[in-house]
Amino acid sequence: MLTGLRKEKPFEDLRRTSRKLVARIKAEVKSKAEAKSLRDAKMIGPTKPDPLHEWQRKGRKLVAKIQAEVRQAKIDDDARFLKTWFDKPLVTGAVSPSSKALARRMASYIDPESMGPVVELGPGTGPVTDALIARGIAEERLVLVEYNPEFCTLLAKRYPEATIVQGDAYALETVVAPHLKKPAAAVVSSLPLFTKPEKLRLALLDRAFGLMSPGAPFIQFTYATVSPLPRKGATFEAHVSPRVWKNLPPACVWVYRRRQA
Ligand SMILES: C[S@@+](CC[C@H](N)C(=O)[O-])C[C@H]1O[C@@H](n2cnc3c(N)ncnc32)[C@H](O)[C@@H]1O
Repeated sequence: MLTGLRKEKPFEDLRRTSRKLVARIKAEVKSKAEAKSLRDAKMIGPTKPDPLHEWQRKGRKLVAKIQAEVRQAKIDDDARFLKTWFDKPLVTGAVSPSSKALARRMASYIDPESMGPVVELGPGTGPVTDALIARGIAEERLVLVEYNPEFCTLLAKRYPEATIVQGDAYALETVVAPHLKKPAAAVVSSLPLFTKPEKLRLALLDRAFGLMSPGAPFIQFTYATVSPLPRKGATFEAHVSPRVWKNLPPACVWVYRRRQA
């Protein structure tokens, strides 16, 4: 129905507002450009820093700080590890933490779609733990079993969602089993197995199979050229990775699975 009033064009308000906005931006850009050319001509002193540049400067500072902290943490880890090795060489089993390449190789044998907890034996300062998380294993699925109380304190800070168990990994039934609500999807071990008698190593593997889903892997790295678990008369299947050269010393990863009946 006609009311006698002039009919407004649709979106006229919106158009008017955006025209005003564009005009304001243009004026601001123009005044900034003039101020810059004045500054360049050294006619006036430095003006207030551009908010965008200020934001970038702050961002860059923050990134540098984070990078320095990461570098420091890595040096701290190396030092911590070396100290522990001097204190207890047979328990620590290495002079420095595993490299990213070795840790990634270990994690690669776990199917991130698999269900259930992932047990890590001897996580130390956590390089393999990091690789497991990067592989897609949620932190809360991790059960980390570490003998060294100092490493346990560090792990609890770094992985607050994981279950940290301080104890002897060879006593899996008493130390780990109570923390598992479901069969484990994998057991990943960095334990220095060769420091233990063969019988004890085999008993550990058997206990680990007892805690896992059928066909789940027991993953172990070694600097040695032979399997850390004797294969003669074995009731398990074994697969070895190519040597990972980017590690000090270079290492191989063995994957053991219980032979299916
Ligand atoms: C060779 S280091 C590996 C550490 C770490 N996963 C890495 O790759 O850098 C072995 C780790 O196993 C731990 N460990 C040795 N014997 C253990 C045991 N019986 N139970 C639990 N942890 C043990 C040591 O304290 C040490 O942190």
